[in-house]
Amino acid sequence: MKTSDELKQVISSEDLARRVKELGDQITRDYQDKELVVIGILKGAFIFMADLVRHIDLPISIDFVRLQSYGSSTSSSGQISITKDIELPISARHVLVVEDIIDTGYTLRYLKDMLALHHTASVKICCLIDKKERRKVDVDADYVGFEIQKGFLVGYGLDYDEQYRHLPGIYHLNPGYEAKAFIPSDR
Ligand code: IMP
Ligand code: MG
Repeated sequence: MKTSDELKQVISSEDLARRVKELGDQITRDYQDKELVVIGILKGAFIFMADLVRHIDLPISIDFVRLQSYGSSTSSSGQISITKDIELPISARHVLVVEDIIDTGYTLRYLKDMLALHHTASVKICCLIDKKERRKVDVDADYVGFEIQKGFLVGYGLDYDEQYRHLPGIYHLNPGYEAKAFIPSDR
């Protein structure tokens, strides 16, 4: 790859595939006999969502929302706006939001508040990576792929300045230390 950035692998594509299947199986069990609307947050969640829904054995509809947060390229300012709204009606329906990373929590807090106005039957959140220690507002995911303490990650949908989304694994960008990802139950 032609880049001056240093990338260190944090989660391999094999570990991602294994964990995403576990999440899909768990979601399938939890929503047995129900229908789901799965809403992906663009752009970061596009690869995770594509893999996840193929492990959800339920009647599902798919939609996307795009949110923009102002701030530096590696940290959210807390000022969020919607640049693409959902298109499906979700009132009285079970909604599962699929997000790539929860960092400060501003993005998901905003989306949850917005979805609450639709009078859904339920709203749950599935995120691939939870940077719990960095939370600025109180919002938690119902399904978490991996927890990581700090560091800026790229690959598997995640970008830095629109680069690296296509990488099959997840990498730590310019690490000055060793980053480690945990599956929440193994902690
Ligand atoms: P929050 O609003 O601070 O929780 O930020 C969430 C959004 O910031 C995520 O949807 C990501 O798009 C982006 N983000 C946060 N951390 C990272 C990272 O380590 N790599 C790439 N994008 C990130
Ligand atoms: Mg995002």
